[in-house]
Amino acid sequence: MNREELIKEAFKAMENAYAPYSNYHVGAAVLTKDGQVTWGANIENASFGGTNCAERSAIFAAYSKGYRKEDIEALAIVSDGDRVCAPCGICRQVLSELIPQDAPIYLSNGKENVDMTIRKLLPMQFGTEDVIR
Ligand code: THU
Repeated sequence: MNREELIKEAFKAMENAYAPYSNYHVGAAVLTKDGQVTWGANIENASFGGTNCAERSAIFAAYSKGYRKEDIEALAIVSDGDRVCAPCGICRQVLSELIPQDAPIYLSNGKENVDMTIRKLLPMQFGTEDVIR
């Protein structure tokens, strides 16, 4: 599956967004090395703090199926915003532990496309090796 196809999958995932508060819809699709795709969408909550972002929904869903960091090939994150959805700080921290540092992260809003990696999105990372010594 190529970049465009994975982005399309993320747009399909975005249709499942539950965003009655922000009305900002985000979809994500994780491509694993076995060719499978796992979707995620943003799921909001009246408490606001209980909201889960699309990319965390997708990566948690992939891990819940048994996939791990080394199985992950690429991630697409799309939104219906005026600019591409740059992953929030919490998602960057989560992705820094759960996907390979140089796995492509394709950001798109259908008009603008940006290719990233978590290494570029989150410099000077706090990680496992800081905690487990
Ligand atoms: N959101 C994501 O799904 N991913 C991000 O990285 C940024 C924010 C969602 C959370 C919330 O449902 C809405 O966008 C507005 O913040």
